Amino acid sequence: MAGQGQSSREPGRPEDATAPPHRRAHTSARDLERYAGLFAARTQVMRSSAMRDLMAITARPEVISLAGGLPDTSSFPPESFAAQMTRIAQESSAQALQYGPTEGFERTKECIRELMAAEDMHPDPDDIIVTTGGQQAIDLVTKTLVDPGDPVICEGPTYPGAVPVFSSYQADTHQVEMDAEGMRIDELEALLDRLEAEGRRPKFIYSVPSFQNPAGVTLSAKRRRRLVEIARERELLVIEDNPYGLLRFGGDPLPPLYQLDGGDYVVYIGTFSKVLSPGIRLGWCVAPPPVMEKIVLGKQAADLCTSTLTQYFVIEYFAEGSWREYIEDLVGIYRSRRDAMLDALERHFPEQAQWTQPEGGLFVWATLPDYIDTGDLLAKALREDVAFVPGAAAYADGRGSSSMRLNYSGSDEDEIREGIRRIGKVVWEQVALYETITGEHGAISSRAEEALAEMDTAELEQAEVLPLRRREGRGEAGR
Ligand SMILES: Cc1ncc(COP(=O)(O)O)c(C=O)c1O
Repeated sequence: MAGQGQSSREPGRPEDATAPPHRRAHTSARDLERYAGLFAARTQVMRSSAMRDLMAITARPEVISLAGGLPDTSSFPPESFAAQMTRIAQESSAQALQYGPTEGFERTKECIRELMAAEDMHPDPDDIIVTTGGQQAIDLVTKTLVDPGDPVICEGPTYPGAVPVFSSYQADTHQVEMDAEGMRIDELEALLDRLEAEGRRPKFIYSVPSFQNPAGVTLSAKRRRRLVEIARERELLVIEDNPYGLLRFGGDPLPPLYQLDGGDYVVYIGTFSKVLSPGIRLGWCVAPPPVMEKIVLGKQAADLCTSTLTQYFVIEYFAEGSWREYIEDLVGIYRSRRDAMLDALERHFPEQAQWTQPEGGLFVWATLPDYIDTGDLLAKALREDVAFVPGAAAYADGRGSSSMRLNYSGSDEDEIREGIRRIGKVVWEQVALYETITGEHGAISSRAEEALAEMDTAELEQAEVLPLRRREGRGEAGR
């Protein structure tokens, strides 16, 4: 008899796929061997998204997570959500529960056009497809354009969620360094020349030009113009991924690449995730007709259509007409959180560290002395109940190991300050250790000691004045 509380699995039989994850994790070597013969070659180069791996750990309520890319959904008024969903149930129940067209509803496309018009872009509705988040748009574009071994170019670092997409289609990913003005266009041109000399044509240049995830930097106006010119001169596609363009904290908006190009060589990806809700999983892609035709075929095979229910939600929400105010609210919230993070970094990180100064979006990118590996550092940080994304997740080639991505949108200001203090503490410990090992005693070493003592005092004070709360039920899937 199968003992209660014991596994009834016979030795050598595959585990029950419905078993809880902790049981499935104990797959035997024999099980692995049996399945391995069935796997497609592409699974060998598939990479896990670092954020997914962090998910289980950072879901613990005591952990301050600066890892995910979570927008502040608690600021969306619940009564407005309830009213919109009620209206849908009363007026459009049958349609909202039905399948919809693969391309998305025309009315959803009208909402998309309204949002894009806020950045002076005016695509033809026929050039738009509604997707299951911007993530699916990246996947569909890559599926449409990339054969195994094809070169694709992106920024270094790039959006960590794009890295596993490119690798699962077996792309040969090349990353172009960035500075404070975004992608280095001189390096891009040198790379393009090199590839051309080898007789290789990149399938696309993927860029997040505004408030980039993960670096928080923005491609300058001059470089935007040059990038679009290069695409024309060399007949290359640029994939512009722009989730954050409207989340600007100050200064003048810059023209999106799509606007500069007019949609001939720039394929545009947008999402409602960062200006409304990631839970609705609604994004879109704008592409020239021949490319769009293939994307639609890819989408049919992937999931038939995007959720009709959440498309109805967006349609109702835009009909209410308050989306601009909501984005303004979000900008105000994120600006204060960005300020809190920059201030805390200044206070708690050693002077050998550098970090970006984002003028919008959700992320700061910090780079530590190169003897610190942020993958190892994360294990130490998690012991202090704080998480970040190690920089290597933003590269396809193992670079980025001394950098980290820090998110400020998903935590309140007290949590951000405390989270950065805890990370600063483990960084200082590494600095002190390095100096001890290398025998570099002196001014810096005593500074490390001082900083650590100061942090211990701050920790005591913090514990007394700030009983850190955590909101209930926070996921961590945000990239
Ligand atoms: C640059 C970028 N692209 C795409 C996405 C995917 O977002 P979603 O699938 O929620 O639209 C994200 C999410 O963080 C992102 O930062």
